[in-house]
Amino acid sequence: MNKQRVFSGVQPTGNLHLGNYLGAIKNFVDLQNKFECIYCIVDLHAITSYQNPKELRSNILETVASFIASGINPEKNIIFNQASVAEHSELAWIFNCVARIGWMNRMTQFKEKAGKNKENASVGLMVYPNLMAADILLYKATHVPVGEDQKQHLELTRDIAKKFNNDFNSKDYFPIVEPIISKDYPRIMSLRDGEKKMSKSEDSDYSRINLKDDKDLIDKKIKKAKTDAEPIPSEISGLENRKEAFNLISIYASLNNKKIDQVLSDFGGKNFSTFKSKLSECVIETICPIGNEIKKLLKDESYLYTNLSKGSKKAQLIAKTNLKEIYEIMGLTKFSL
Ligand code: TRP
Repeated sequence: MNKQRVFSGVQPTGNLHLGNYLGAIKNFVDLQNKFECIYCIVDLHAITSYQNPKELRSNILETVASFIASGINPEKNIIFNQASVAEHSELAWIFNCVARIGWMNRMTQFKEKAGKNKENASVGLMVYPNLMAADILLYKATHVPVGEDQKQHLELTRDIAKKFNNDFNSKDYFPIVEPIISKDYPRIMSLRDGEKKMSKSEDSDYSRINLKDDKDLIDKKIKKAKTDAEPIPSEISGLENRKEAFNLISIYASLNNKKIDQVLSDFGGKNFSTFKSKLSECVIETICPIGNEIKKLLKDESYLYTNLSKGSKKAQLIAKTNLKEIYEIMGLTKFSL
């Protein structure tokens, strides 16, 4: 039986926010106690749309700093960047040959990202999910924590694994991965619009809490966050069609490791201004220490690069062994130095 192993990837966007923390990184931190975990900064995915080289370099460092500052232990887990392990690109090519064009045409994220100008999107953007499948299967990962929006890409990863195992008569070679999409790790929405995901790319900085925001700014942003005129309900049904209210309650629940109905039974009947001051305290208590640690770590680039390099070497050991097996299964020979 294959060992249980977690793999996940995060794009190096820089300036991570509360949505990234509660939706992904906090989950990564919790998983490190239960699984062997590999966390990859997917710089090769980032370049499917143009990246300014200077910004890319600093965003990669900031992502490592955010991981470590949030409590992912770089000794216990593997934290590395995709470009350091060439096998990701090699396996992605193999999967370009396993996956079918029809499968790629169904990917909704490509359609959304390419928009109307499909002809002008990079070829990389189209085959992005094959690189993602390569990331995961290169380590024979069994569990992948991801957001809802990545579910379809994980389905594709499973299809690729099945087709490979079947085509090359190597039953059970690649595990069929299970997504970890926990309800306790909610999709955090913009503070200005409960229909939109909290995002670095939204114009107003007041739509998000950045991990590096200071106390006063966090307090101001929460005070200004959109709500409605109704008080907090005592039952979850009272949050229907109140997307902004629901969002603030789920942020509170997630920060305190509580269920939504527990929060509602504590605050039901109270108005939002009372709730917001409590929420503000919790956000500050969790985010400010992380933000301060990120700022501190960013001053020590050599520490961050040392960790990235150690992690990359650990990842290479697994990747090289597995890619060698994959080539053998397929009848390919690879001579090396
Ligand atoms: N596509 C993922 C995202 O945008 C990032 C990613 C790349 C990933 N490779 C991965 C996630 C492997 C999980 C596993 O969020």
